Amino acid sequence: MTPKDWQGKCSLVREHFLSEAAKAASAEALEAVKVACLGRKGELTELLKSLKDFSLEDKKTLGPLGNALKQELSALFDAREAALKASELEAGLMADASDVTLPPYPFQRGRLHPLTLATRRIAGILERLGFAWADGPHVETERYNFDALNIPQNHPARAMQDTFYLNGPCRDKRLLRTHTSSVQIRYMEGRKPPLRIISPGRVFRKDALDASHSPVFHQVEGLYVDKNVSMADLKSTLTSLMRGLFGPKARIRFRPSFFPFVEPGVEVDATCSFCSGGARCPVCKGTGWLEMGGAGMVHPNVLKAVDIDPEQWSGFAFGMGIERLAMLDYGVNDIRAFYENDVRVLRQF
Ligand code: DAH
Repeated sequence: MTPKDWQGKCSLVREHFLSEAAKAASAEALEAVKVACLGRKGELTELLKSLKDFSLEDKKTLGPLGNALKQELSALFDAREAALKASELEAGLMADASDVTLPPYPFQRGRLHPLTLATRRIAGILERLGFAWADGPHVETERYNFDALNIPQNHPARAMQDTFYLNGPCRDKRLLRTHTSSVQIRYMEGRKPPLRIISPGRVFRKDALDASHSPVFHQVEGLYVDKNVSMADLKSTLTSLMRGLFGPKARIRFRPSFFPFVEPGVEVDATCSFCSGGARCPVCKGTGWLEMGGAGMVHPNVLKAVDIDPEQWSGFAFGMGIERLAMLDYGVNDIRAFYENDVRVLRQF
């Protein structure tokens, strides 16, 4: 090969790769062009290697030409690569770009859970009668959940409520409270009457979940201790509550019952809000009455346990299931609807 031939070849290589680089439509395609030119077996690489067969004199003139060409093409590939990468990036951004001029999704307003609504309604009525809201812990000791409520160890009444006990290093056994009556003790302890509180909250029992039972549910407790509190006060308070919930015609009745922390103890029924004693009413089963909860006059032993003199003071207490009231009030026939948090259900309140 003469020096002239070699120079001719250089021109052809240059023409060829200038046009190849211009044609490459992606960074990947350009890389292949680059390898074909400058790679270990690339056309320009081979051409530069062939310089070794020329005389020293020729090498002096051809060498710089070859190097200049190599630099020119390298720079060209780099510039072309940068341009391709930039347009690929831009195309990618455009592909998943948001159109910020579109209108936003319509807002779904949040709303209160039906149990929160029911609790607030009950509490609202009782607060207007002078009852203050009191809270207590879910994890309790046996003293607050049982002992001070006149349910001593081994008393058969303890079996009435199946209890979740907690394992732990505490000296006192810990449990999940089985009723809100524990708050009676917590509130009376260290205070002197007159006292008038309600305490809504979550309670826990070993019950299997079905349409009317849940191992976790809610109660509202009421407690009123003062001079000369009587069953008549209890009845008027609960009548006001039921009228507030179910309308001015609602009435209540007491049936004698037993709870260790009250004497006498009663079960409270309210007139069925779904019928007027109609024989076929599925809610009250034709009786005209619905069971609302338990109540009674605070047992002297309970007052003694918190240092209140039962000779001087008397009180009433009541406890009601919030789910039950909410089910009646909203016409919900399965307690599980309250816990599944299906928005199609929740949206209706
Ligand atoms: N604690 C009782 C229960 O969970 C309900 C109850 C009955 C509460 C009578 C009271 C009461 O305050 O006086 O079954």
